[in-house]
Amino acid sequence: MNRFRISTPEGTRDLLFSSCRALRQTENTIRASLENRGYSEIITPAVEYFDVFAQANPELDQEQMLKVIDRSGRICVVRPDNTTPIARIAATRLDNAALPVRLYYSQKVFRSVVGGHGHKGEFLQVGAELIGADGLEADKDILSAAFGALTETGAAGFRIELGHAEIYKALIEELGVDAAAAESIRRLIENKSFAALGDTLSPYGDRPAAGALRAMPQLFGGMEVLDQVEALTGNVRVLGAVSYLRRLYRALDETGYGDRIMIDLGLVHEMDYYTGVMFRGYIGGAGAAILAGGRYNALCAKFGKDMPAGGFGIDVESVAESLQGAAGTETGIRRDTVRIALTKGRLEKKTLALLKSAGYDISELEAGSRKLIFALPDTGVEIVLAKAADVITYVEHGVCDMGVVGKDTIMEKGGSFYEMVDLGFGKCRFALATKKGKDVYGGYRTPVIATKYPAVTKAFFNRKNMDVETIKIEGSVELAPLLELADAIVDIVETGTTLKENGLEVIEDVAPISARVIVNLASAKLKKAAIQKVIAELESGLEG
Ligand code: PRP
Repeated sequence: MNRFRISTPEGTRDLLFSSCRALRQTENTIRASLENRGYSEIITPAVEYFDVFAQANPELDQEQMLKVIDRSGRICVVRPDNTTPIARIAATRLDNAALPVRLYYSQKVFRSVVGGHGHKGEFLQVGAELIGADGLEADKDILSAAFGALTETGAAGFRIELGHAEIYKALIEELGVDAAAAESIRRLIENKSFAALGDTLSPYGDRPAAGALRAMPQLFGGMEVLDQVEALTGNVRVLGAVSYLRRLYRALDETGYGDRIMIDLGLVHEMDYYTGVMFRGYIGGAGAAILAGGRYNALCAKFGKDMPAGGFGIDVESVAESLQGAAGTETGIRRDTVRIALTKGRLEKKTLALLKSAGYDISELEAGSRKLIFALPDTGVEIVLAKAADVITYVEHGVCDMGVVGKDTIMEKGGSFYEMVDLGFGKCRFALATKKGKDVYGGYRTPVIATKYPAVTKAFFNRKNMDVETIKIEGSVELAPLLELADAIVDIVETGTTLKENGLEVIEDVAPISARVIVNLASAKLKKAAIQKVIAELESGLEG
């Protein structure tokens, strides 16, 4: 049987019976909640012109949009986002008399996903937009709608974290760096890569903006975070944003949502899109955010009418799934237990030694068996042994809270997680190497590069503005140039022995590698105390 006749495209799936009922129940509850708050439904086309999204939201990756060509040859896309079409409608269809307007939608968004990662390519989102209103009351209105809708679904274990786009923007302007440096700093803050951020900012010494930016990834938790940032900077724009978050918190606290609010000043994604408060919602059992939103006052102007706007979207299926398990409940999150995935093989010995010097009893792991999951006695910590790339998969999906994995795997596989600690062991490097004396860059032929790491290789040559052909090799990559299959290799070099013994030499270093601690996005927030404790213990083990 042709598999395309019996299977569904990557990222999509059928939902039957109880899953359908759970999805519709959650959807209907959220819809009713928004209706009760005065939001009116609108429906936008499932297919829109590519230009709608390309010009309005540069953060939407072109490759992720599912394209359709209409009969005139124009490129259309299957709706990848709900907010952009609503901004189009607001700017082109609503007159001033109608503003401010509360709109809501309940419709799917579609993304083209890479197969084999378990990423969803089709989401049912229910979301709300408040168009034509700005300021505290408007943000309170939107956030109350978000809190209200999630509460009414029966979800007890959710939290919504607040951040503010001005904080990063003001500090980066104060630092006065170019766009490329700003983007690399932003990325490190977004990934909570404390150590790498510290290195990147070290040339700026003790300038206050550098100190505050360095602290940003750690500035998440309760309201105390706002006091901490005030102690770090006198930047008036930052202080303005912090005081705004404080007032917003108070306003939401009055409506009874105070204990569900967290702060994350390291929310720095989509900085061209957000202009004020930003927020993300998390719930146990869903590894990624189940709600995202904020203020995007510049969006409607891209469709010809300048007016403020803010809103949010909820991933209905993830909420419904969490509610079906116990994870949506306050007790289902198991805040005091932490499951850590460790990389088997190359890093295993050193990671186990670290756990031991951090004070954990790892005798069962040391005993040697084919077991894969180990509970460490009296700690609430559970260890899972997995292959490097799988460590990332388990952490990204939230079935493990944390992982220890090499930077090589992180660079090749990517994904959404926080990269919180550089453990400093497992040190080696990615390098470009070839046969002694060979000129890889000479002539007009496109160089052929053999590698186990095609993504790392592509990114390296992209930075050099060079096009190369990569060939994926599964092991002993050094063979490829020796057998004349490739001009060079990009591979891991540790001692350099393999290269030397095969008559190869390094032409250029690509990136340093060491073992990192990665943390699931939701776990970092919902289990902050337990995870910080494990990290502190690991760090003390490193010193020991
Ligand atoms: C890695 C890498 C190099 C070698 C480098 O291979 O791909 O071949 O180690 O180490 P060195 O600089 O200390 O000589 P690995 O041992 O993981 O096996 P593989 O080549 O079969 O993947």
